[in-house]
Amino acid sequence: MKTIIEPFRIKSVEPIRMTTRSERTEKLKAAHYNLFSIASDDVLIDLLTDSGTGAMSAKQWSAIMQGDESYAGSPSFARFKNAIQDLMPFKHIIPTHQGRAAEAILMSIFGGAGQTIPSNTHFDTTRGNIEASGATAHDLNIAAGRDPSSIYPFKGNMDLNALEVFMQEHAETTPIIMITITNNAGGGQPVSLQNIKDVAAIAQAHGKPFIIDGCRFAENAYFIQQREPGQQDRTIKDIVRDCFTCADGMTMSAKKDAFGNIGGWLALNDDEFADQARVKLIQTEGFPTYGGLAGRDLEALAQGLDEIVQEDYLRYRIRTHEYIVERLDQAGIPVVKPAGGHAVFVDAKAWLDHIPPLQYPGQALACALYEIAGIRSCEIGSVMFGRQPDGQEVPASMELVRLAFPRRTYTQSHADYVIEAFIEIQRLKNSLRGFEIAKEPPQMRHFTCAFSPL
Ligand code: F0G
Repeated sequence: MKTIIEPFRIKSVEPIRMTTRSERTEKLKAAHYNLFSIASDDVLIDLLTDSGTGAMSAKQWSAIMQGDESYAGSPSFARFKNAIQDLMPFKHIIPTHQGRAAEAILMSIFGGAGQTIPSNTHFDTTRGNIEASGATAHDLNIAAGRDPSSIYPFKGNMDLNALEVFMQEHAETTPIIMITITNNAGGGQPVSLQNIKDVAAIAQAHGKPFIIDGCRFAENAYFIQQREPGQQDRTIKDIVRDCFTCADGMTMSAKKDAFGNIGGWLALNDDEFADQARVKLIQTEGFPTYGGLAGRDLEALAQGLDEIVQEDYLRYRIRTHEYIVERLDQAGIPVVKPAGGHAVFVDAKAWLDHIPPLQYPGQALACALYEIAGIRSCEIGSVMFGRQPDGQEVPASMELVRLAFPRRTYTQSHADYVIEAFIEIQRLKNSLRGFEIAKEPPQMRHFTCAFSPL
């Protein structure tokens, strides 16, 4: 059979409240055109993020009932730790309430004024935590990763030459080297196992810890299995283990590839760094056997980690995005190719080329998708990345709109509805106008800024 079905049945449903276009026009205006300010009740298909929005399995819900809420030494922590170490063989597992808390703890150890931290592309919270510590974040993604039309199979890769040059110039001030798998900000594109190993070798040659931001590790491993020579006959689990064996630590948002609604962790091999991390953890998150989580959360995540590496799930997951990308491409809508692991990314700069980057074509498209079809998406462009630490505004390298798919939540007809919405926008795209930002906070402005239509 050729049709790839959702590899699950639905046991419990959440109704979608239908809205009209005129209702949405009003909601958008009241939200100052910032989609983060729209109530989720007013959204038909919510593709704002794949983070914490997935559906848990019956086994996860039943695991929740096994949660042991002891302050110290909970068996739920042991199950959580074992499930992680089965995939990622790190010595110390430090639970946090979500990924950014792990980043903040990491930066309390390695960040600080004058420090420089390279990655393929830092996600915005990682960058935020680096900059808040006084350090600077450097993105060294390969050039193909910034070209939405390139079909290179591992567009998330680190530019190894750029990293070598960077280390020659900044070794003294570089405390760690990071890599994000998959590269979320660059289109959900994977990093090859070879690239991970090569970056690890560079880090080792310079005596620097190598830390993986592993939020979407299972999707990344599936791409490795499908695309990297010599990996086809290997299990997802084996590939995942290889990816992490060559690292010294990881940060994780368990709201992605652990099927959690909340959760995260920091893992480290070094005893001294782990001790420092635990001190910070106790100050900010909680005791080291629960971090910022309840025992029941730890149980749900342990079970989620078992389910996320299942190939049937990953095949369906990746195919959903490929299906949409193929249809949009056929309709002449510029999309990031190949399809990303957790999302479809539309190239708003190419599609709405009548709107200059600093009038935010991605925001214009995201607002149109909401107004016309009730779909909530997220701008990943100059709104998110344009404001520099020195206060200047510089256009981002890409103006993307991300349609991030919650895991196991929507079905094929939702995908078809999304495709139809884009075809409708194709008809009237020349009438779309850009925005100016009327009010913005000092950092991470995309979450809360207010827009005025031009
Ligand atoms: N790293 C990456 C690559 C991420 O995508 C995220 C979150 C984080 C770190 C932070 O994790 O949310 O648990 O604190 N990304 C979400 C998104 C918010 O929509 O892409 P968190």
